[in-house]
Amino acid sequence: MSKTYTTIELTKQQQTAWIKLNRPKKMNSINATMRHELTEALDKTERDNSIRCVIVTGEGNKTFCAGADITEFQQLTQETAAEFSRKGQQIFSTIEAISKPVVAAINGYTLGGGLELALACDFRLASDNAILGLPEMKLGIIPGWGGTQRLPWTIGIAAAKRMILLGDSVNATEALKTGLVDKVVPQNQLKAEAEKLAQRLCEWSPAALKQAKAAVNSVTKTFLESGFRKETDFFALLFSEEETKKRIQSFFYQGNKKEGDS
Ligand code: COA
Repeated sequence: MSKTYTTIELTKQQQTAWIKLNRPKKMNSINATMRHELTEALDKTERDNSIRCVIVTGEGNKTFCAGADITEFQQLTQETAAEFSRKGQQIFSTIEAISKPVVAAINGYTLGGGLELALACDFRLASDNAILGLPEMKLGIIPGWGGTQRLPWTIGIAAAKRMILLGDSVNATEALKTGLVDKVVPQNQLKAEAEKLAQRLCEWSPAALKQAKAAVNSVTKTFLESGFRKETDFFALLFSEEETKKRIQSFFYQGNKKEGDS
């Protein structure tokens, strides 16, 4: 657990590994370094038999994760966008597939890739200031890291369309109603609640938990895999559109970046 990362922190408390997304100045958005470091941390966590549960959270008390680092979108072509999509899907599928339960401790804004990450976790605890959404429409694109597939499986097709097609975000209370999160707690209790949940999970047989997780995941596995291929194709296609380029630029230059703006 001693390795130093630059965009995440990996620490261990008793039998629980904490993965903290740590780019607070950029709203914990996920860049290439973070993707690489997440892959490494997940691998390490999976191989360490003393770890029985994983908690993912964001640094600070404002943001879990504001999604993919939008600066990277400026360079993407149809071809590289497909690779970008596949890589993100792969990392989040690793979260879903690792043998230990993963809890998302959602501590604020959880947008785009941030929500896609949380959707790949087994449990979602949200602080009362959390805002969750897939605002990709504003950038002229669609979620490309599994969100178009995992969201409908989690909250149903109608509610997923409201979030994806309208780009509407929801607050923690609304997220609880649709089952997008399992529980909402005051922000100053989020860490303690996540620890409590992890402790409960650590009491079970690791072998039984591993099989339980794999069995439940098998319900959606085939559907998700074929859905991800379509999502990648559709996501990549949008990078051949002029409007996509304009919308991505406007995030940086026209003050059009605030979540909730129309
Ligand atoms: N990628 C890259 N940079 C991001 C980012 C992202 N996803 N989200 C925020 N940032 C950067 C901002 O550009 C800003 O950088 P700067 O200080 O160099 O100007 C910094 O993080 C702080 O963000 P800011 O927008 O000023 O904070 P805010 O409190 O006003 O708003 C959010 C917070 C999360 C509502 C807003 O940042 C936002 O909507 N982000 C984009 C979310 C999004 O569309 N995600 C989907 C990506 S597919």
